[in-house]
This record gives sequence, structure tokens and C-alpha cells, in this order.
Amino acid sequence: MGTEEQSENGGGVATASDSLTITDNRTGKSYEVPIEDGTVRATALRNIKVNESDFGVMTYDPAFMNTASCRSAITYLDGEAGVLEYRGYPIEQLAEHSTYLEVAYLLVHGELPNQKQLDEWTHEITIHTFVHENVRSFMQGFRYDAHPMGMLLASVGALSTFYPDANKIHDPETRYLQIIRLIAKMPTLAAFAYRHNMGQPYVYPDNDLRYPGNFLSMLFKMTELKYEPDPRLERALDVLFILHADHEQNCSTSAVRAVGSSQVDPYSAVAAGIAALYGPLHGGANEQVLRMLRRIGTKENIPDFMQGVKDGKERLMGFGHRVYKNYDPRAKIIKKACDDVFEVTGVNPLLEIALELEKIALEDEYFVKRKLYPNVDFYSGLIYEALHMPVGMFTVLFAIPRTSGWISQWLEMIDDKEQKIARPRQIYTGEREREYVPLDKR
Ligand SMILES: CC(C)(COP(=O)(O)OP(=O)(O)OC[C@H]1O[C@@H](n2cnc3c(N)ncnc32)[C@H](O)[C@@H]1OP(=O)(O)O)[C@@H](O)C(=O)NCCC(=O)NCCS
Repeated sequence: MGTEEQSENGGGVATASDSLTITDNRTGKSYEVPIEDGTVRATALRNIKVNESDFGVMTYDPAFMNTASCRSAITYLDGEAGVLEYRGYPIEQLAEHSTYLEVAYLLVHGELPNQKQLDEWTHEITIHTFVHENVRSFMQGFRYDAHPMGMLLASVGALSTFYPDANKIHDPETRYLQIIRLIAKMPTLAAFAYRHNMGQPYVYPDNDLRYPGNFLSMLFKMTELKYEPDPRLERALDVLFILHADHEQNCSTSAVRAVGSSQVDPYSAVAAGIAALYGPLHGGANEQVLRMLRRIGTKENIPDFMQGVKDGKERLMGFGHRVYKNYDPRAKIIKKACDDVFEVTGVNPLLEIALELEKIALEDEYFVKRKLYPNVDFYSGLIYEALHMPVGMFTVLFAIPRTSGWISQWLEMIDDKEQKIARPRQIYTGEREREYVPLDKR
């Protein structure tokens, strides 16, 4: 999901050390700047000065189009080749063989768990799924039609007040407990937000169920004594969670790192990530796909729509990506998950239109030439809709699994000796040294 992934293709893969010679034509002086892992340090340019009092050359990079902000060993992404790996494991293998909780362990710890480690991890997360009753009352204070993402954002921020110890971010044990709590409580808060919108009583976690099954129970349980999730839906949800768990330095992850760099507690840092994800350019694209498919309505309208796209009047939502110039590996897996979900829910009639659009686009010169392939959003909205999710919940469904990515990146940042408080520079473009004008003279 999300027009989120704005980082450059692949990031820095280690190469032999080399250097760059820069000649400053203002002074005629030459400088040798080391190239390390395909990058130069922006601070190395500070030595390039016209005179001693000069601040030195800065880099200007709005939207961080070409700036690596950290070293990270979590997620590898190569957009040209369509490769996505968590801790070196291809996303396809994880989606096929793993569970979301196993993947969350992998992201946080760096290694896949053995059975004992997985059992302990699962147990820890399962026993932390409940939230304080005051969190529940807090959520009940929202208006009936409050956006579930706004509720999630506020309630995750509020968790920091329930766990004031969380500000001990240099204490590994305390830190670990917050990681467990965040992963464990996110589905509970998300489901409460959904039930609130539906005007239905909140459902407490059922710790006999697995992570995705418990989430389905908290969403959909009505009068039955025990909710029994359909294993096919549970698995499809688990796969979606795996696919959305991390995506390196996207907008929300960068927000978590930047806010976390002030050494605030992890709940507040993750709340910043949720806020970033809330934006339509990040978490909202699958909603646009659904709107587009509904607008097209029938297969007969596809040729006209495609002509509009090629004439630049329309955009084929769910196609194209800043980083992926190949089939988004996640889109392939989601397409497969669609079949499993529709087996249970019945086929979403919009699927037929989506499949036809994809077929045409993959053969059409306009899309081929521009390397426009389906992205993760093209099919995920169809699945969420089949699960009877209102569109407002789509981004919430993204935030649940991305929490493990955010928190792993936060942890990596805390332990990175090179990181300090994030504080970019600016090029000042305003007025200077103006004389104050009293109010009656303006
Ligand atoms: C994701 C996206 C913003 C990436 O944009 P970008 O990297 O800045 O790429 P550009 O907008 O420069 O597009 C390059 C070319 O492809 C075209 N293009 C890109 N995405 C397109 C789409 N979805 N439909 C039609 N044309 C598209 C652009 O018009 C441009 O064509 P031009 O060279 O003739 O001007 C863009 O592909 C898009 O808007 N996709 C639809 C929204 C979406 O699905 N977002 C979710 C992403 S996870």
C-alpha cells in the first residue's frame, strides 16, 4: 500500500572504497572526498570553503531524493530487479512459509527464531494484547464517525502515558517490553477503532487465537461464544501483514526515526509514523484503486478509460512506483491471496475489471515503455473490501504490521553510534536584518 516508497533504488551495496576529486572553481582548489558504499558524506563537503569564515558547501536534497539517512541491515530493496528482502530473506519465501509473528521476530532480532524462541515470542505478544481499561474509555470518547486512523494515532500516542517507563530507551529490558506491547496492542486498538465506527461493543482479545485470527475475532465477533476464524482468511491476512511489515526508509519509517532521534519514548515515535502513514500519498493509494475500479464499473468501459490514461487525463491507480520499475514482488503475492479470500467471500466483481486492466497494461506500449507494473495497492484494496472493511480501515490494516518494521528501525537507530538528533539544514530565502516597524506605522 502507499505511495510511500520514495527511497532510491537498492540503497548502498558495499563496493570497494574509492574517492571523488572535486575542484572548486571559485578558488581553484581540489578536494578528495572518499566514496564509501556508493556514497559520499555530505559533511565531507563542509571542507570546501571560499575562505576560513565560510560555512562550507552543503547538499540540498528536498524530499531526500538522493540522500541515505542511515545504515540499515533490515530491508533490502532493488526496484529495478523487483527484489524485496527482510534481513536477506526474499519476501516470496517469507510470505509462503512464514507467519507474521515470525517475520516480526526476524525484523526485530535479525534472525529467524527457532521453535523455542518463536513460542516465547508468541507467548509474550499474546499476553500483552489487552489494553488498560482507561485506553478503552479514552477511545470511547471519540465521535461516532471518527476516522479509525486518527483514533489509532491518538491511542498509540496515549500509550506513552500508561507506560511512563517507556522513556528509558537505553535500558534494553524496558525497551523490549515496549516492542512487545506495541506489536501486541496494535490489532486491539485497530479493532476497537473499527467497532467504534460500527457502533458495536468493543471485543476483548481472545488469547486462544493466533495473531491474525484474534484480530478477525476482535473485528467481527458478535453473539457467538467463541469466534472461529476461517483459516483461509486468517492466512490471507497473515500474508498481507508479512508483505507490509517493512519497506526500508519510506516516509513513515523516516518519521519514526527522526522523531525517535530526539530520544522520545517509542509510543510517541510510532505515533509519528502512524501520522505519516495517514497521508494519502503514503497509505491511501489502495483506496484510490477501489474508487477507480468502481468508476470504470464494467469491462466495456475499460478501453475508454485506458485511452484517458494514455492521453494523460487519468492515472491507472495501483500502477507505477517510485522505486519499483518492475513487477512489485508484493503485488504478485497479493494477487494469489485474492484467490484464497474470494474462495471464502465470493469473488469481488471488481476483480474482473482489475484483471482486465492489468492484462491490457502489461501489453500496452505506453505502460511497457514507462516500466509501469502493478504495485502492492492494486489488489490489496479488493481483499480488504471482500473482508467487509470500510475504506477508512485500509490504512489501519497497513499500520498494524508496519509497526514491527517501525520498531525494528527505531531499535537500529537507537543502537547506531553514528546517529544523533535528526536536524536538517536549510537554505534561508527570507528577508534579513529588517528594522522593526511599530504597529501604528504599518
Ligand atoms: C507511484 C507514482 C507516484 C510514482 O511516480 P514517479 O516515480 O514520480 O513517476 P512519474 O510520475 O515521473 O511517472 C513516469 C511516467 O509514467 C507515467 N505514469 C506513472 N504512473 C502512472 C500511472 N499510474 N498511470 C499512468 N501513467 C503513469 C507518468 O505520466 C510519466 O509519463 P511521462 O514520462 O509521459 O510524463 C506513480 O506511478 C503513480 O501516481 N501511480 C499511481 C498511484 C499509485 O498506485 N500509488 C501507489 C504506489 S505504492
